[in-house]
Amino acid sequence: MTEKDFLPNPYQEFPDKGGVSWKAPSNIALVKYWGKKPVQIPANPSISFTLDNCATTTSLSFAKKEKSDSISFDLMFEGRPKDDFKPKIQTFLERVERYVPFLKAYHFTIETSNSFPHSSGIASSASGMAALSLCLMDVEKQLDPDLDETLFYQKASYLARLGSGSACRSIKGHLVQWGQHANIPNSSDLYGLEYPFEVHADFKGYCDTILLVHKGQKQVSSTVGHQLMHGHPYAANRFQQAFDHLDQLKPILKNGDLEDFIKLVESEALTLHAMMMTSMPCFMLMKPDTLEIIQKIWQYREETKTPVCFTLDAGANVHLLYPSSEKDKVCAFIEDELAQHCENGQYIHDYVGAGAVKING
Ligand code: PMV
Repeated sequence: MTEKDFLPNPYQEFPDKGGVSWKAPSNIALVKYWGKKPVQIPANPSISFTLDNCATTTSLSFAKKEKSDSISFDLMFEGRPKDDFKPKIQTFLERVERYVPFLKAYHFTIETSNSFPHSSGIASSASGMAALSLCLMDVEKQLDPDLDETLFYQKASYLARLGSGSACRSIKGHLVQWGQHANIPNSSDLYGLEYPFEVHADFKGYCDTILLVHKGQKQVSSTVGHQLMHGHPYAANRFQQAFDHLDQLKPILKNGDLEDFIKLVESEALTLHAMMMTSMPCFMLMKPDTLEIIQKIWQYREETKTPVCFTLDAGANVHLLYPSSEKDKVCAFIEDELAQHCENGQYIHDYVGAGAVKING
C-alpha cells in the first residue's frame, strides 16, 4: 500500500446530516517508537498491546454547509467546549483533508470523553486520534458504501497516524505492529498491522496496571521528545536495536517465554528514558517514586519468581505487566507495596483488549 491507495473513490452519496460514534482504546508499547521523519514516519518499527479500559469515546455529528471552502468544527470535551484542544484537531483535519475530502462540505461537532480520570497523566492522544479517525471513516463509508472493510480499518489507522504516530496502533487489538520491517510481511510505516505471527494464549489477556506516579502535565511533549532523536549521538544504535528487538520478540511471543519477554520489555522502557537522559537538552522523566517502584518490582520478582515486569511511557507513570493467572497475587503486591508510591494512591487496572468498537446511538 502507498499513500495514493488512501485517496478515496468518488463519493456516491452526500447525506445532509448525520452522526457516528466510536470508542478507541489506548495502547502500551513493548518496543517503543521514539524518533520520526516528516510526516509522522517512524524512525524505527514498534509494537504495542492494545488496552481495553483506558479509552476515548468520540461522537462526530455533521451537517451540510452552504459554502464548502474551509474546515469548521466545534469541540466538546466531557460535555464542555474545549477550545485549547482545537489547534491540534485543526492541524490534524488539515493534514487528512486530502484523504477525506468531504471535510469541507460539512460543519462538524466533535464530542469526546475519556474513560480514565481527568489529568491522570495518561496520554489520550492515541485513543483520541484513533476514535476521531474511525468516526471520519464511518462518515466516508456513508458516502462510499462499497468501501471495503480491510481498507476501512487500514485507512483509519493511516489517518490516526497523521494525528499522533502511536494512535495508528489503537484501532485493532491485541498486539499491533507499526513500521516497516524486512521480516514482518505487510508491515508498513503508514499504518498499524495486527501482529501477523502466532501469539501464545498467555499474552491475550495480559494485564497492565497503570501506577499513577505523577498525574500532571508531561515534562516533555512527545513532539519535543521525537525531535531530541535528531542528531542524538546514540540514535542509529537505538533504531537498530528496535529492529532487532522485533526479531527477538517473534519466538518469545510464540512460545510464551516470559523470562525473555521481561528482559526485552524492561530494556526497551529504560532505553527510551536513557535516550532522553542523553539527549541535548537532556531530561529525566522518572520521579523518585518511579525508581522506588522499579526496585520493588525487581525485588518481588526475585523473591517470588512471579513473572511481573514494568514498562514506561515518556513520563513518570509505571505500567505493570503480568499474566492474568497472577492477578490475585499481583493485586495484593500493588496494594501492599506499590500504591503508596502513586499520587493519591491511584492506579488503573487494564488488560489487553480487542480494539476499537462502534457505538450505536
Ligand atoms: O504517538 P506519539 O508521538 O505521542 O509518541 C508516543 C511515543 C511513546 O509513547 C513514548 C512510545 C510508543 O511507541 O508509544
